[in-house]
Amino acid sequence: MDTPLKHIAFIMDGNGRWAQQCGLARTEGHKVGAQRVFDVAKRAFKHWNIPYVTLYAFSTENWKRPAYEVSFIFKLLATYLKHKRSLFFENEIRLNTIGDISKLPENARTVLVDLKEQTKKYKDHTLTIALNYGAREEVLRAISQLSEEERQHITWEALEKHLYTAGMPDPDLIVRTSGEQRLSNYLLLQAAYSEFYFTPTYWPDFDDEAFDKAIEEYMRRTRRFGGI
Ligand code: FPP
Repeated sequence: MDTPLKHIAFIMDGNGRWAQQCGLARTEGHKVGAQRVFDVAKRAFKHWNIPYVTLYAFSTENWKRPAYEVSFIFKLLATYLKHKRSLFFENEIRLNTIGDISKLPENARTVLVDLKEQTKKYKDHTLTIALNYGAREEVLRAISQLSEEERQHITWEALEKHLYTAGMPDPDLIVRTSGEQRLSNYLLLQAAYSEFYFTPTYWPDFDDEAFDKAIEEYMRRTRRFGGI
């Protein structure tokens, strides 16, 4: 099915609350949440033909969580990517990251770097995972990377080239699960004209039906980009 969407971005929220409501440890919520990732990517790439999918997996603020939970999330990410490795090749999906991954635990970083390198030839489907990502840090980093010449007269076009998302279209739709209605330092500049969709569904329960509802809602919206 074709949609006018080029890029859909998700804030995967509610893993902890999902686990709590099932009487499980928060980490169990992350496990089930990780299993949702490929279902969502497949629905976007294969069913809806959306070329870019971006997921907020770990923010610059998430380091404040208990050390065991942080460590669990990165171990889970590494295990998950190793386990699902063949799916990237079978479905021709390029893995991409945004955020400063140099600060990630070694194991997770190695898996990410390798898989990114091995999948960079794929052009039609890009799965971007935001890791140690924060929009404010992204802007400061972009400014610090401007050349002397660019700095004399800063333009949006010049700044944009130094964002982690350089070369990617801005997100058409940003979906946040779990009932929270905020951006939490996610893609602040790229979201200038994005549509937002908030659903009370927790991320581990965000199935194809929930996904399709978000797309159908998006299709009903009229985007004017500041025009009339
Ligand atoms: C938000 O739920 C979830 C996270 C901060 C972590 C998401 C990470 C994964 C699912 C790990 C694997 C990632 C990939 C891409 C395979 P929360 O803990 O904030 O939930 P709560 O608000 O209910 O506490």
